[in-house]
Amino acid sequence: MDRSIFLSLALASLLVGVVSARDWNILNQLKALGSSSSSGQNAIVSSGLSTNLKRYCESWRFNVEVHNIRNFDVVPQECVSHVQNYMTSSQYGDDVERTVDEVILHFGSMCCSKSKCDGMDAWIFDIDDTLLSTIPYHKSNGFFGGEKLNSTKFEDWIRKRKAPSVPHMVKLYHEIRERGIKIFLISSRKEYLRYATVDNLIQAGYYGWSNLILRYN
Ligand SMILES: *[C@@H]1O[C@H](CO)[C@@H](O)[C@H](O)[C@H]1NC(C)=O
Repeated sequence: MDRSIFLSLALASLLVGVVSARDWNILNQLKALGSSSSSGQNAIVSSGLSTNLKRYCESWRFNVEVHNIRNFDVVPQECVSHVQNYMTSSQYGDDVERTVDEVILHFGSMCCSKSKCDGMDAWIFDIDDTLLSTIPYHKSNGFFGGEKLNSTKFEDWIRKRKAPSVPHMVKLYHEIRERGIKIFLISSRKEYLRYATVDNLIQAGYYGWSNLILRYN
């Protein structure tokens, strides 16, 4: 096998994306519509507004995940609670599980059934919100993407080594490792956080990678 395999789990991009979404605030447009109506119509507009907002935010989230929407700094203000609800819901876990199942099926049909692997394949994982979950950080300090990540605070949190694994990802990780595929971890975490990162990864159930590549301090 001369092929390298790269996985990018788009789910991660919701929390760690970098954009300016100010330009498309559907809420402002709907409010403008609502203010020109009579009060009876206002009630209708505002109940329609919450339905529309939910649908708009769902659609925004979906398009981030499939990587149509890129390069945003913050989640649009009106969708922050939607993103929070999703990321803390069992649906998120189910979605990751489906992704993991599909990846494992892909192995079966393609290059790497356990007997066929020759150790020449590589797999790249990101860390935050791919292997380790930052949801506890967002629950206590963060704003679920509604404000730019405060790197001082975030790095303090990383040093506590308390990030749990993303659901189902330990299983995928070892499915890959047991096939003899070399695992490379690449993260925007800084080099000085190496020990904390390694400890946290091992505590969460990940081990046996070939290289962990971090950013220079
Ligand atoms: C980031 O967090 C630190 C520590 O909590 C705080 O001192 C600092 O003011 C914050 N920075 C911003 C830009 O909010």
